[in-house]
Amino acid sequence: VWTTTNVVDEQVAAIREQVGSARAICGLSGGVDSAVAAALVQKAIGDQLTCVYVDHGLMRKGETEQVEKDFVAATGVQLKVVDASERFLKALAGVSDPEQKRKIIGREFIRVFEQAQAEIVAESGAAGEPVKFLVQGTLYPDIVESGGGTGTANIKSHHNVGGLPEDLEFELIEPLRQLFKDEVRAVGAELGLPDEIVQRQPFPGPGLGIRIVGEVTKERLDLLREADAIAREELTAAGLDREIWQCPVVLLADVRSVGVQGDGRSYGHPVVLRPVSSEDAMTADWTRMPYDVLARISTRITNEVAEVNRVVLDVTSKPPGTIEWE
Ligand code: XMP
Repeated sequence: VWTTTNVVDEQVAAIREQVGSARAICGLSGGVDSAVAAALVQKAIGDQLTCVYVDHGLMRKGETEQVEKDFVAATGVQLKVVDASERFLKALAGVSDPEQKRKIIGREFIRVFEQAQAEIVAESGAAGEPVKFLVQGTLYPDIVESGGGTGTANIKSHHNVGGLPEDLEFELIEPLRQLFKDEVRAVGAELGLPDEIVQRQPFPGPGLGIRIVGEVTKERLDLLREADAIAREELTAAGLDREIWQCPVVLLADVRSVGVQGDGRSYGHPVVLRPVSSEDAMTADWTRMPYDVLARISTRITNEVAEVNRVVLDVTSKPPGTIEWE
């Protein structure tokens, strides 16, 4: 029988056996999946686990602080924060192709982990056990959609499945790979994680890097971060966080349109609001959200983010659209 208690007990036992006295590292993305995977592995092996948070510069506003403070407060986990934003920006320079971006971000993630591993080993001294394992919050839908296992066509490479390099140094621990999102949330609650973490809306590992259609630059990231923060603020204020599965804000960086802002002509970029309703992200419908909330978001973004002069609404279901634009 499937119960969250059974899942936790089984996984804890399996992880203990797999890891033995070795050490593991876990990448935290700020999302539900990696947080629950980390909490599960921590329950199994305690301080043999060190979490690594890679700040790739593609995070949303406030996200890094949330991981550094809230997650550590909730779990007591050992955390190493790596600021790798320059490295990611450099690797992404000149790249517009979505799959190429995903592969680059996936590859850089692993390289940064490998460095972190070396540092963690060095810090543990000569007597330290080797870091042999990498914990990942891969879910069942991630595997299906990356074409793993079922023969489905490859839709997009989730950074934590299709994007892994072939010369990976670690053995993987993926305790959530048979679960759907709602089950992961239940497991997180069972592990005592607070609602702010467990009920968080999904956010993709490659972050804002796949929400800029076009090349990723620091200026564009800053702009999108502001627009995204405004949308999130207004959705929360309207009490829509639970009703909406997630609401990507997408910057069409290579598109410009003419508008009128303040005293004169503007020639700025559009952002797309992509509010979706879903059970498991495998299929989704666009959320019929209140017009007045859409109006507030639109007014605020065009007033507060100077380079954005148009806000448009994505009214496409999945399929045929995916949730993210890339
Ligand atoms: P799509 O765009 O495929 O997204 O309809 C389905 C769900 O997955 C999230 N997503 C990702 N999550 N790594 C992740 O951890 C990824 O590379 C990734 N790509 C998409 C997306 O936000 C949605 O919830």
